[in-house]
Amino acid sequence: MSLQKRPFYVTTPIYYVNDVPHLGHAYTSTVADALRRFHLLRGRDARMLTGTDEHGLKIDRAAKEQGVTPQAFTDAVSQRFRDAWPKLNVRADDFIRTTEPRHIEFVQSLWKVIADKGFLYKGAYEAWYCVGCETFKTEKDLLPGNLCDIHKKPVERVKEETYFFKLSAFQDRLLAFYEAHPGFIRPETRKNEVVSFVKSGLDDLSVSRTSFSWGIPVPGDDKHVMFVWFDALANYRSALEGNDAHGKPLRRYWGPEGEVVHLMGKDILRFHAVYWPAFLMAAGYTDAELPEAVHAHGFLTIDGEKMSKMTGNVVDPLRVAEEFGADVLRYYLLRAVSFGQDGDFDHAGFIERYNADLGKNLGNLVQRTIGMCAKYTNLKVPDAGVYTALDTELVAGVQRELQKAADAWTAIEPHAALEATMAASSLANTYVDRAAPWAAFKDGDLPRVGTILHALLDVVARLSIAIYPAMPDKSDRVRAQLGLSPISALLDHDAWPLGATELTIGAALPPGTPLFPMYDKEQTELLLAKLRPAKAPAMTDTPAAPVPAPTAAAAPAPAAPEAPPAPITYDQFSAVDLRVGLVVACEKVPKKDKLLKLQVDLGEPEPRTIIAGLALTFTPETLVGRRVVVVANLAPRDFGKGLVSHGMLLASGPSEALHLASIDEGVAPGSKLK
Ligand code: MSP
Repeated sequence: MSLQKRPFYVTTPIYYVNDVPHLGHAYTSTVADALRRFHLLRGRDARMLTGTDEHGLKIDRAAKEQGVTPQAFTDAVSQRFRDAWPKLNVRADDFIRTTEPRHIEFVQSLWKVIADKGFLYKGAYEAWYCVGCETFKTEKDLLPGNLCDIHKKPVERVKEETYFFKLSAFQDRLLAFYEAHPGFIRPETRKNEVVSFVKSGLDDLSVSRTSFSWGIPVPGDDKHVMFVWFDALANYRSALEGNDAHGKPLRRYWGPEGEVVHLMGKDILRFHAVYWPAFLMAAGYTDAELPEAVHAHGFLTIDGEKMSKMTGNVVDPLRVAEEFGADVLRYYLLRAVSFGQDGDFDHAGFIERYNADLGKNLGNLVQRTIGMCAKYTNLKVPDAGVYTALDTELVAGVQRELQKAADAWTAIEPHAALEATMAASSLANTYVDRAAPWAAFKDGDLPRVGTILHALLDVVARLSIAIYPAMPDKSDRVRAQLGLSPISALLDHDAWPLGATELTIGAALPPGTPLFPMYDKEQTELLLAKLRPAKAPAMTDTPAAPVPAPTAAAAPAPAAPEAPPAPITYDQFSAVDLRVGLVVACEKVPKKDKLLKLQVDLGEPEPRTIIAGLALTFTPETLVGRRVVVVANLAPRDFGKGLVSHGMLLASGPSEALHLASIDEGVAPGSKLK
């Protein structure tokens, strides 16, 4: 069976119910949901599983603290997870709870199979246990004072009769499996950690407890409950017992028929990359029946600080989604964090990225394309006519970026996929300026206007599909503005937008409202005040100041309050030669993090070279095609190594969040500002 046709199965960890959903949970769930949506778009049979991990000492104690039974406690918290995901547009196909009979039955039968094969034996155990980690610790794991290395809390001495799992018997087979399946543990850097852990020797694992009873009873010996990780890891497989709603066996999602991808944070990679395959091997699963990949991601910090209930900086993803819409949060999480690396949820950066990528780039493209159709084509899809070299260059560029995006989604690199998607949008924005439909209109060349707008509508249609994994609601909204079917109508075949156009000549373009209205400085500050955790626990309903409605275009940022400069005469002002410039080329300056080298058309025989400190805010390709305001008579400035700047661009803001002064499209380069 070709890879493309194999059923695809993506899982999140099942979340402990001693906590309510936070941004870390939302992150993995969003990635899983986006992957599921990407593979559905490719015409694959794709399924996503999430759920809650409800047994163990940690939950038992949390319930006792609240004075309720563990079952009542887990029922309530599990429901909060179940309710949270749809609000983030995360549509898991199944939600498993480890207290469900279907799971308990499966785990007990798995235990029996492993016991029958001789990989479980009874013994006695004395060791340190961290309830936070729900795992035993060796002396060398501990910090001075017998503190857990992760939770920094005292570990407990446990001395019990226990069943051991013969993990030591799987050391060689695990190493051989990693060797034969180089893509199993991802990313590569983490793989090395796991391999050296296994190479350093595996001890048998204690997999049952007798000192509490909130767990799955060991078959035939119900004095023991199973180690919570033995129980929890099995959820990935227990959820595939039986048939789906169409009567088809769920087993098809498991290997070898299905491609199984487990996503989890780096802290629990070892459980997934060592214990889980070993349990499956012990139960008789062949190598082809083991998961395709266990993919660990990094940890999110909040505004540069560790996320912690103690400091109260935990971000409630539901509040962010309420304010901006789920898709905007999803976009940020997927784009701003390189999957596999640690990342930061920076409140100010969140709004900046929103304005830059979604407002100025994608939203602007959709809005101006539809706006020009309203002006020039009576809101109808125009004929394609004959494409010029400029048009075919756009088509080729967009195809190239969307191919890159597909490859990146396949490789589980959402950040790279969205970078390429936005690059395609930038190309189209640049094309608008270069193709200048308003000039063709002025010349009465209506077929040319039609061709340009057709090319643009076609790119917008393709982008409406490409953004679907990250932004499913926005995807349908863009499509509605193009008069196209919702994405759900495309999911029965490979619909990744590299094929024929979806446009129908003459079709009506229903007008819509702006997709990504931008936030100006005042709105941004109010939003930040509202969203930044006020050192209060997550999920609070603290009333906050009303935020003014966003506007369709970015308002200029007000100047910082400082003493006004002394008045100047008009002559002094007019001594400054301000000109409209069109950026025709732009590149990074090697070894200078902040600088970009621009070629700016000022209506002179040759474009001017201008060196500007824009690189912390802009990538070169997003500037090409933009109209800027240039101080044209500033004395040249020498930056050394042959770099001389012949002018200065006007901009406002700190170097990592600059706004360029700009002017309407259609104003000829070189025009004077006065
Ligand atoms: N119940 C176990 C998983 C069992 S899977 C068979 C568990 N649950 S958890 O609720 O504590 O953690 C769930 C996931 O949240 C883990 O993948 C963990 O890495 C992730 N995160 C917790 N804090 C996080 C961040 N600050 N950032 C990103 N993810 C983080 O472990």
